[in-house]
Amino acid sequence: MARAQPRYVCQECGATHPKWAGRCEACGAWNTLVEEAVVEAPPKGLAGAKGRRIAIVGLDGSEADAPRRITGIAEFDRVAGGGLVPGSALLVGGDPGIGKSTLLLQVAARLAQGGGALYISGEEAVEQVRMRARRLGVAASPVSLAAATSVRDIVASLDQGEPPAFVVVDSIQTMYLDSLDSAPGTVAQVRASAQELIRQAKRRGFALVLVGHVTKEGTIAGPRVLEHMVDTVLYFEGERGHQFRILRAVKNRFGPTDEIGVFEMTDRGLAEVLNPSALFLADRQGDVSGAAVFAGMEGTRPMLVEIQALVAPSALGTPRRAVVGWDGGRLAMILAVLDARGGVAIGANDIYLNVAGGLRIQEPAADLAVAAALLSSLSGRPLPAATVVFGEIGLSGEVRAVSQTEQRLKEAGKLGFARALMPPQRGRRAARPADLDAEEIATIADLVALLDDPAAAARRPAPPRR
Ligand code: TYD
Ligand code: MG
Repeated sequence: MARAQPRYVCQECGATHPKWAGRCEACGAWNTLVEEAVVEAPPKGLAGAKGRRIAIVGLDGSEADAPRRITGIAEFDRVAGGGLVPGSALLVGGDPGIGKSTLLLQVAARLAQGGGALYISGEEAVEQVRMRARRLGVAASPVSLAAATSVRDIVASLDQGEPPAFVVVDSIQTMYLDSLDSAPGTVAQVRASAQELIRQAKRRGFALVLVGHVTKEGTIAGPRVLEHMVDTVLYFEGERGHQFRILRAVKNRFGPTDEIGVFEMTDRGLAEVLNPSALFLADRQGDVSGAAVFAGMEGTRPMLVEIQALVAPSALGTPRRAVVGWDGGRLAMILAVLDARGGVAIGANDIYLNVAGGLRIQEPAADLAVAAALLSSLSGRPLPAATVVFGEIGLSGEVRAVSQTEQRLKEAGKLGFARALMPPQRGRRAARPADLDAEEIATIADLVALLDDPAAAARRPAPPRR
């Protein structure tokens, strides 16, 4: 006899607890435990039940590469690893209102032509989705629509006839299985609903996209429980006030995970941004202090972005630090290195750091650009004109080489930059555009000296260590 046994599941991390508590012991979140009844079947063990023999094969098979479905939206296809794989499940996570539904309706419209696309909305009525489609200019596309939240009904409908090649479920938090007692959006429901839908996708061979809202902690609600169940996880991110949106792969069983796609939110939906560097630099003002252009890489793509710093005397005992788009811990490290190895006492000031355009940079290669922006703001002097900066800074103040120097220089040259401050090159020298002047910075003290007195071209001895 199965019996219902209450348990308490943390809605943040999915940990289960036998007793209710105000705080989840596993992740430390407050007020996240919710009672979810589970019906547990009595354990049977293996006695009696006969298993079937499974087929065991060698590694060296002759299976062709999984064919992919290309949407024609290049920014999306690249992040998905070169198109969607039939029978796979992809999770698109992001803050509410960031544009997930818009993006996926556009993708569905592109895929509807060959093989069919079904868009199931659990949040909006069919008429609302139609209105959005009209606004996006895709209303004529043969996308099938449904408003449904019951996974049982959805699976039953997909079982009849030939399923479409592409199915979007928007969002997984609104889906429920009637065999569970808990409310939609709880960990148990999200997990069970996703499992059912994914099973159906594998069985019937359609590419499934699940939309998931992200909670304030930055994990997909019903969190982490979904990431390991799907083949691909993409996050759609961006600052609400900016029109840029970045699609980032964080897991991909069928492709690389360091690719990003850049979109712009327009009044007719999301438009691809094929030359992000130009866009990120569009609002840049020449000749202001505290700004440095970083020649970065996002996956295989070079991307120039402006890093802005503001250093101001602090009125507080503990000076303020605010960082947008970069890692606060890394900023603290650079401040310490500037102080100890560059002889620049900057730590007592309030410091604000911002990556323009709402991009989030994860590369350590941005260290040198951050240091340059800080020094420029401190001195009030703009950096030399038309200059890009990149390089990683080590704790002893050395500037370390970074990968893909050639692509960075090429992109800078393409956008009209004339000079690069970069790490010393060892061994083979990276090719650089003819009209780009590469200046090698060996240590942070060199950078300080160079910015102190640009004419003296960084060849003064380093200040004494303190
Ligand atoms: P939406 O796709 O509904 O977000 P999500 O599904 O992630 O919750 O996007 C909502 C926002 O996008 C909304 O604030 C309005 C804006 N938007 C545009 O700017 N242009 C458009 O053409 C559309 C459809 C939406
Ligand atoms: Mg939505």
